[in-house]
Parts: sequence; C-alpha cells; structure tokens
Amino acid sequence: MERTFVMLKPSCVQRGLVGEVISRFERKGLRIVQLKVEKISREKAAELYKVHYGKPFYGDLINTIAGKTVVLMVLEGRKAISITRKMIGATDPAEAEAGTIRGDLAIDLTDNLIHASDSQESYEREHKIFFSEGELQTL
Ligand code: CMP
Repeated sequence: MERTFVMLKPSCVQRGLVGEVISRFERKGLRIVQLKVEKISREKAAELYKVHYGKPFYGDLINTIAGKTVVLMVLEGRKAISITRKMIGATDPAEAEAGTIRGDLAIDLTDNLIHASDSQESYEREHKIFFSEGELQTL
C-alpha cells in the first residue's frame, strides 16, 4: 500500500488545528502509520527543503519552521500521495479550492499550514529525515 509523508507546520500546531487536519485524513480512510511531535531543528528543516535552496522565499520558509514544534506523520492508503496532495490543495492558499485544507484553513503562502510529499521520490527522501525504518516497519 502506498505511503506519504506529511508535516503539520508550526502555525497548524499554534492555531490548534492538528485535530481538525488529522481528522480529515482519517475520515478519508488514510491510515496513520506513524505520528510524532517534534521541535524541528534548523538542520532538518534545511534538509527537508533543500530543493528550494536559493529561491527568494527560502529564508522565510526555513525561519517559519526551524526551532518550532511540528507534527510529523506517515499516512498509508490507496494512492496516498496524490490523494493527500488533493486534500491539501494548491501551495498558495489563495489558489486552493474550498474544501481543501489550505483552501479552508490557511491564508499565508510561506506559512501554508501543511506539507506533503509530491511524489514517490519525495516520500522516500523526506520520511527518512524524520523516521527510522524500525519506527515504520512494525506498524
Ligand atoms: P510546501 O508544500 O511545504 O513546499 C515548499 C514550501 O515553500 C511551500 O509549501 C510554501 O510554504 C513555500 N513556498 C512555495 N512557493 C512559495 C512562494 N512563491 N513564496 C513563498 N513561499 C513559497
């Protein structure tokens, strides 16, 4: 079964929207394989977003995440990657359709509430930054 990696960004935690967002994934039928709360280091934030290094928004992006509390999870289900991306909505909340997580709950572009892997390759790279194989194997 396909898996994807999701990070609820600091604003999601600070605004008390963790339950709302997780609930949407559960109601859809995605299974929570693993879930943890972590104060994300600057190093891990930089590793997660290294493909954006050098872009104009890179500094702000890292600063909104680094040293703050996030929720990290691996979700599993049929076509989990594309389904999760669809549920999250467009990167810019102004473009995200109503009914999507960003469309309903976010307004800022840099701090757009949530991140999810956009491909199998991204999933393979991203989940390993935060989860060991052992943490995911037994569940
Ligand atoms: P995310 O899905 O976490 O992946 C990369 C992040 O970079 C994205 O969500 C936004 O938080 C941020 N981002 C992408 N494009 C822009 C942009 N044009 N301006 C500001 N932030 C951006």
